[in-house]
Amino acid sequence: MSTGVVVVGSFNVDHAWTSDALPRPGETLAGLYASGAGGKGFNQAVAAARAGAATTFVCALGDDSGGRLARDLAAADGIALHAQGSDAPTGTAGIFIDARGRNCIVLGPGANAELSVAHLRAHRADISAARILVAQLEVPPATVEAALQAARDAGVATVLNPAPANIDVAGGLVSLADVLTPNETEFASLLAHHLGERIDPDEVAMLEQARLHDLCRALLPHGTVVVTLGSAGCFVSHPAALRRGDDRPHYRTPGERVQAIDTTGAGDAFNGALAASLARAPGKAFEGHIVFATRYAALSTERTGAAASMPRRPELESRYGG
Ligand code: RIB
Ligand code: NA
Repeated sequence: MSTGVVVVGSFNVDHAWTSDALPRPGETLAGLYASGAGGKGFNQAVAAARAGAATTFVCALGDDSGGRLARDLAAADGIALHAQGSDAPTGTAGIFIDARGRNCIVLGPGANAELSVAHLRAHRADISAARILVAQLEVPPATVEAALQAARDAGVATVLNPAPANIDVAGGLVSLADVLTPNETEFASLLAHHLGERIDPDEVAMLEQARLHDLCRALLPHGTVVVTLGSAGCFVSHPAALRRGDDRPHYRTPGERVQAIDTTGAGDAFNGALAASLARAPGKAFEGHIVFATRYAALSTERTGAAASMPRRPELESRYGG
């Protein structure tokens, strides 16, 4: 069976505490605790699979309970798992969530930091057979770059989610993205790092569209940039060659109204669903993929957890129609 989506990225065991406010330095709070599967890579793989794409996940796992959790959950969602074994512990994330659903995260990369170019190369055939390759920045940049390059060499379209924001990536890596999907914070950090433009993340959504478009074109001249704006939807900027029957160089798409209780993994829901939609219906107008991914991500914020909160297609259909 050919795989629609290959995700290369992290798996973490998430430990999450929800309290009224986020802790300040020196402060001790009590909150509700839950643990579950996460990691941007795994969350995106689960989203892609539940959104209907045959999905492969390439990652690194420790020989411990976290590694076993990843294997069990991947099997339960029908995800083909290619895990590099590691002596390091499986990745972890400590997550604090406040009453408004906002979060702060500290990562223990563990095995994720060891995902090697050699392991990636051993699974090149899966990448060549896919329609879409998706990567984020919680595994070593050299491995991400090798994955994007392998996809590009095979004519497989790439989605790069440049998250988390504090990882500086080389311009050469960014330019291997066909679709780049920063949120406001990640967009601001890419602009600062690559173009020397200082823009407050809170102001990104308020910028003139023509200005946003120019910034996107400077960042990724030959690819599509989708800036996700949380509940405000998305800004999409296409280079001329990729407009495919849609003559708008750029446009905004609206957000969906939801009762968010936990936004952990919402960006991952968006990226996984976008990849699945691109893989399933490559001929569809791009805006249709964005609408699907926006709805998918919105629904994921109505439940707690990261990977566990990814909706299944019937739930989407009952909310939004088939
Ligand atoms: O994007 C959310 C994810 O970021 C969490 O699942 C956590 O593991 C961190 O990687
Ligand atoms: Na969630």
